[in-house]
Amino acid sequence: MTEEKRRLIYGRRQGRPLKAGAREAFETVLPALALDIARLSAPETLFPDLPRLALEIGFGGGEHLAAQAAAHPDTGFIGAEPFLNGVAKLAALVKDLPNVAIHHGDARDVLDALADASLDKAYLLFPDPWHKLRHNKRRFVSQKNLAQLARTLKPGAIFRVASDIPDYVRWTLVEIAAFNRAHGETFIWQARKPEDWRIRPADWPGTRYEAKALVAGRVPAYLEFRRA
Ligand SMILES: C[S@@+](CC[C@H](N)C(=O)[O-])C[C@H]1O[C@@H](n2cnc3c(N)ncnc32)[C@H](O)[C@@H]1O
Repeated sequence: MTEEKRRLIYGRRQGRPLKAGAREAFETVLPALALDIARLSAPETLFPDLPRLALEIGFGGGEHLAAQAAAHPDTGFIGAEPFLNGVAKLAALVKDLPNVAIHHGDARDVLDALADASLDKAYLLFPDPWHKLRHNKRRFVSQKNLAQLARTLKPGAIFRVASDIPDYVRWTLVEIAAFNRAHGETFIWQARKPEDWRIRPADWPGTRYEAKALVAGRVPAYLEFRRA
């Protein structure tokens, strides 16, 4: 896919000019944290001392990724986000953590380059909703991206998706069911009762985006799937 076409999918790459602290983090911290995409074919070389690897797709302001990385020092975290201001924010949040690598760009580039069965966890939190019917095909949850997640997640790995848009929640469940029908049971939804998807689990830190959704009266759903 051309860069221009890809950019269409995730919208803005930059918002307001960076504040001094964020600019400094971007310029001084990011070079040390930047993901070397060439290493994804041998992902054990990324964090050689860490037994587990996680990917967050579109980390926004990075609140969730930073909290997870601090809570799980045995896991290397890759974050992918094309939005410059978010990258700068995450760089500032994780500058003292040794277990984070940042890809300033499209998560699909990370998935494409990643070796099979590499990930213990993948997070897709509040993906862009692409409300209009004719834009639905830009949604990150798609058969193509699910195939890449199925390939790169280890057996037993966890894939978490959150959304405050009921249509996106339904869309996700329908796309996953279609994927499972076509490829055999691959993503197993872990919910047993409504609270399991209505209440954010304790080990699932919140984000600013989510807080705004709650204030606006939109109730998020928290979906957790296990890779068969
Ligand atoms: C609605 S925001 C949610 C941000 C964050 N996950 C949160 O919960 O606060 C969606 C984010 O996904 C990013 N995004 C969209 N398409 C992406 C892609 N293909 N790869 C990586 N990030 C993407 C956008 O730049 C945006 O920051």
